[in-house]
Amino acid sequence: MNDLVFTVQPGGRLDGDIRVPGDKSISHRSIILGAIAEGTTSVEGFLEGEDSLATLRAFRDMGVIIADVTNGNTEIQGVGLNGLSQPTGQLDLGNSGTAMRLMCGLLAGQSFSSVLTGDDSLSSRPMARVAEPLNAMGADIKLQPGGFAPIEIFPASLHSVDYAMPVASAQIKSCLLLAALYTNQNADQSMITEPAPCRDHTERMLRGFGYKISTEGSRVTMSGGGKLTGCHIDVPADISSAAFYLVGASIAGGSDLMLRHVGINPTRTGVINILQAMGADITLENKKIVGGEPVADIRVRYAPLKGINIPVDQVPLAIDEFPALFIAASCAQGTTILSGAEELRVKESDRIQAMADGLAVLGISHEVKADGIVIEGGKLGGGEVNSLGDHRIAMAFAMAGLRAESPIRILDCENVATSFPGFSKLAVKTGLSLEVS
Ligand code: S3P
Repeated sequence: MNDLVFTVQPGGRLDGDIRVPGDKSISHRSIILGAIAEGTTSVEGFLEGEDSLATLRAFRDMGVIIADVTNGNTEIQGVGLNGLSQPTGQLDLGNSGTAMRLMCGLLAGQSFSSVLTGDDSLSSRPMARVAEPLNAMGADIKLQPGGFAPIEIFPASLHSVDYAMPVASAQIKSCLLLAALYTNQNADQSMITEPAPCRDHTERMLRGFGYKISTEGSRVTMSGGGKLTGCHIDVPADISSAAFYLVGASIAGGSDLMLRHVGINPTRTGVINILQAMGADITLENKKIVGGEPVADIRVRYAPLKGINIPVDQVPLAIDEFPALFIAASCAQGTTILSGAEELRVKESDRIQAMADGLAVLGISHEVKADGIVIEGGKLGGGEVNSLGDHRIAMAFAMAGLRAESPIRILDCENVATSFPGFSKLAVKTGLSLEVS
């Protein structure tokens, strides 16, 4: 546990016109695909968070020249599909599950060995979900007992796969698509089927790099051996970071907040759909497509919320937003029921239990289920909660302060910097009484 503590004084409202940092998923992918493209890729809006910077450093360790990020701008000198060089040491991916799982797919098809490591949280997250299908493609990947990192990847020649994913996971899908780039181009095409729609940034970005990939319903098809051509990527603001402000402004009386240039890819907008179903006042303006991804300015004003039964089809579309949504549910009138969300148990923390423990401290009645939670809206008290080093748990409880009756102290907040550098400054600027110590 680190000792960074957020203390939030009760009350306040959120006002202003802000842009939250760049999308984490798209930032990771801009480095990965830019590195294996031919020619230069320029990126604007890149997330300067610890997670995407871990990906950037890992590719530098494999010989890719990537400019230092200044104001979200960087440039990657692509080395082509087969131009990466063996890293001299292990690749440390910190807290980032996306970096580890996506890079596993990419590295499975290289002609050199590599080892992927991460922090304690990442080293306790399931990796067999990527190693098993990759090994079925001919990869040679070894995990630690129990299916954990460090992951050892040995050179192998890959063949195509027809894989039906058991979980709706964009990380598994993207991992296999990256491995499919390295399969023999004359062999059959790889086909990956998802059980429910999950984020499709990899597919969109591959197309942006000129790579042929087709999507039909729930199935993505592509073959290996093609070529990616460097391009320009405009990373939108991260809807997963905007989510804390969407919830904060929705629960705090008198709030009126504008969030600019937010990615509204339909595979990511579950948080908007769910909040609107709860009665939130959220409107989308200036909708446009930027580099293959839809973006909009989002205006959110305070509105009284009511509890709902969250539709199961919204779960993968809001998978990272449940910590924030649990705070919305705590402030809503009536009962909110979440089910079909067992994946929350294997995120940066067990997010069902971590949130339930904090809600118990704040006096919110709830019942924990194996695959979700039932939350009774009520009055939020104060007290000391533990984020367990999970960035999204920390930011969710920070927003709870807007409706709390006494101060909330949130422990172990350093990892907020993995996805949202500058969160506390922006929160204060918009009206939250947050102190960092
Ligand atoms: C991500 C996919 C999601 C999400 C994670 C980022 C991605 O994970 O929780 O924060 O960038 O592909 P799963 O695909 O495992 O659900």
